[in-house]
Order: sequence, then structure tokens, then C-alpha cells
Amino acid sequence: MTNKEYVLFYDSGIGGLTTLAECIKLLPNENYLYFADKKHCPYGEKDEETIRNLVTNNIALLCAKYNLKSVVIACNTATSVAVEQLRQSCSVPIIGIEPNISEPIKMGFNQVVVLATSCTIHGKKLLTLEQKHNVKFKNVSVKNLATLTEQYYHTKNLTLQKKIKSTIRKKLLSVSKKSAVVLGCTHYVFHKSYIEKLGFVCFDGNAGVARMLAEKIKQNPTTKKQKNIPTFLSSPTLKQDLKLKKIFLSITRTLTK
Ligand code: DGL
Repeated sequence: MTNKEYVLFYDSGIGGLTTLAECIKLLPNENYLYFADKKHCPYGEKDEETIRNLVTNNIALLCAKYNLKSVVIACNTATSVAVEQLRQSCSVPIIGIEPNISEPIKMGFNQVVVLATSCTIHGKKLLTLEQKHNVKFKNVSVKNLATLTEQYYHTKNLTLQKKIKSTIRKKLLSVSKKSAVVLGCTHYVFHKSYIEKLGFVCFDGNAGVARMLAEKIKQNPTTKKQKNIPTFLSSPTLKQDLKLKKIFLSITRTLTK
């Protein structure tokens, strides 16, 4: 077990890198650890129990190996099915990303379209959010988009990029431009600017997570002078994953533009 205290980010793959980038903007001094369950990605088409077991087992392994001060589930699918159980079994604060519904509601949008994985779309979390905000969402699951996103960012193959764009265009074809589009999967945040180019106002939950993390760790912040790069790990080995680091560094350049 290391002396350093880490904030752990968890996703099935690269989606949570966008959440991590947002948190580093607000809390640059923390030590970050990022874990991608590459072996089992994508989560979105799996059944709830399988996902719950994967998430709880992986987090238990990481908790045993690293000194964690907080865990961010940077995966809407994992939050939706596993966050309650994790909060019962882990002693550190757990923050789970969820679709950012409150912002479009506050801005007065009458129609909210939630784009998410099939598991999130069919899970209880969205129903709870509908009840909480007293609105009915139009829920759209986008099969394969997380997988295509993984493949594109690992290969930069332009045919995949075209396929991603046409998949998104087709899914939003029948959606009114007056609707707010809520990205209920962290992988989809990579395509936010494309969705905005199609004429939609688009929302994600990353800034909300950064604020929540700041709140959770405010009693115990890390102070240090030099900026350090997060450590990236993936399954099945739990060893350092340099490809993830490379993708993270490339997205932080593009996301800040
Ligand atoms: N990035 C994840 C989410 O936010 C999961 C995508 C997947 O593995 O299917 O839902």
C-alpha cells in the first residue's frame, strides 16, 4: 500500500477520461488514479448483476492495493447499477456520475433527450430522476457507440469516425432541435462538439462531478507545487496502461480548445 492518497476514477474504458480532465481543472493538486475495465468493456449491453459484480470486485482490488481518499464512478452505467452497493461496502466517499438533467430543466427546456447505454436507459436511475424532476424524458440508447468510440480513439481510423457520426445523426434524426440533449454515458462526451454542430444544446455531468468531488475532499485536500500526470491502469492486469495515458493527453489538448 502506497503512502500517497489517490482519487480513483473508474470506467469500463476511456469514457471517464473526460470526467478526470474536468476534475483536474478544478482540483489540480490531487493524485489521480484512473482504472479502465478494458477486459469487460463495453458494460452497456451487459446485465445488471454482471456489471455490479465487476465493479464491486475491481474496486475492492484497487482499494486493497492503493490508499484511496475518494472514488469517482465515471461511468453512468456502473453508477446506475452499482453505486448503492459500493457505498455500503467501501469506507471511502463514492461519487457516481449521472445524467445531468437539472441544468436543462433550470434553463427551461421542455423536452429532454437522454442518450445513454441500453443498461442505463432500462435502469431504475432514470425513472428516479424523472420522478425527482417531474418530467418525462425521451430516452435513446445508442448500441455500439461506446465500442466505436473506444475503437476510434485507440486507432484514429477515419472510417470509424464516419461511422460514429452517422450513428449519432441517425439517432437524432427525429429529435426536435428545441430539445436538450443529455449525454448519459461518459463515452459520448467525446462527441459533444459534433452533437452541438448538429444544432443541439448538449449537457454532460462532468462539471457536476468535479464540484461534488471538491466538496467531498475539502477537509483533506492535497497540496503540492508541481503538477503531476495521473496513473492509468486497466484490466485484466491492473498494470500501467500507456495507451490510456496517451489518449488522455491528446483529449486534454482538444477538450480545452
Ligand atoms: N462510459 C460508460 C457510461 O458512462 C459505459 C459505456 C459502456 O461500457 O458501455 O455509461
